[in-house]
Amino acid sequence: MIFATLKELYPHENRVAASVEVIKRIVESGHRFLVESGAGNLACLSDDQMKQAGAEIVSSAKEIYQKADVIFKIWAPLPQEIKYLKEEQIIIAYFKTYNNQKNLAALAEKGVIGYALNLLPRTSRAQSMDILSSQSSLAGYKAVVNAVALHKKAAPMMMTAAGTVAPIKVLILGAGVAGLQAIATAKRLGAVVYASDVRKEVKEQVESLGGRFLEVSAQTQFSDASGYATETTAEYQKRQQEAVAQQLLQTDIVITTAQLPGRAAPRLISKEMLRHMPKGGIVMDMAADSGGNVEGSVDGESVDINGVTVIGCSNLASEVAATASALFAKNMLNFANLAYHADSKQFDFHVSDELVQKTCICKNYHLTENVK
Ligand code: NAI
Repeated sequence: MIFATLKELYPHENRVAASVEVIKRIVESGHRFLVESGAGNLACLSDDQMKQAGAEIVSSAKEIYQKADVIFKIWAPLPQEIKYLKEEQIIIAYFKTYNNQKNLAALAEKGVIGYALNLLPRTSRAQSMDILSSQSSLAGYKAVVNAVALHKKAAPMMMTAAGTVAPIKVLILGAGVAGLQAIATAKRLGAVVYASDVRKEVKEQVESLGGRFLEVSAQTQFSDASGYATETTAEYQKRQQEAVAQQLLQTDIVITTAQLPGRAAPRLISKEMLRHMPKGGIVMDMAADSGGNVEGSVDGESVDINGVTVIGCSNLASEVAATASALFAKNMLNFANLAYHADSKQFDFHVSDELVQKTCICKNYHLTENVK
């Protein structure tokens, strides 16, 4: 079988969906791996390194699309790439499935088979393939590192001969994978960390990382049977905004990560609330691409709102492209291995495995029921 990966055309994307380790593993099992020349450049991975791992470097993307049976991509093919796709070609990537019917239908019309690893169920068996998890964790880390680098205060408590300065205060809203990593990172840098979430079970996790849980009075549980957050009530939102506004009075950095699967992100901070923050405040809105947790945030941009720097940053994993690519590629390989038969050394994706079924978004020229 011919596997392949290409340069990502998605704006500001530095990652590549292959790594030396993954290429080696696939080539060692008797298959070919084509890589578009330069695909790894922005992720600190040269053509030479890929070649040494066993990849064949190809200069034309068109040629790769003509030859490959299985394509590993960070992002689903963009309209300018769709024209090259061929029938029965397997594409494993992140596919936006919410509000994206037109682009997905164009893919389905090509007869390709698409697997969206962002649709994997949150089960322990799926963890090693979960691109949301691996990338969110890195993004949470990077959000804190970037914010601390931008802030004019030092993060840790500093005891000097000239006197002692207090550590900065960081508030994390949404303590899922990204939020928990953000808490851990901010703690390691010496900050005092507060965090809040609508899922009650998170309180213990926040505290075990050394964070303080910001209680919203009369907190009720907002999560479904699979453990995902659900929409909150108007009454809760009011109380949450009051608690957050109060906390902002003594907060230097805010990281927001709150998402609702398949829906717009909840609005947690209004422009007005930002007036509460001390001068020099930095807010990182990691949900900026799905509506934003912060009013006025713009994805990919830094804007001044009432004296606070608000940065819309939904793709921070791209800024740690070397590490993110290695993990993403490993997620891809682990998924492909669901279709691997050790006896014949062949990959056969026509398997009844639950994880393969639940991630399939198009097949036989149609979108599947996984696309809502
Ligand atoms: P996410 O990226 O969907 O959302 C981030 C966080 O925001 C969540 O913790 C959510 O509860 C919170 N949130 C949503 N609305 C909010 C609001 N109005 N106010 C405050 N917080 C709000 O979440 P992520 O990181 O994907 O994690 C969701 C759950 O799935 C976690 O329990 C996580 O441990 C679990 N998980 C399990 C995996 C597995 O077993 N394979 C893999 C990844 C996550």
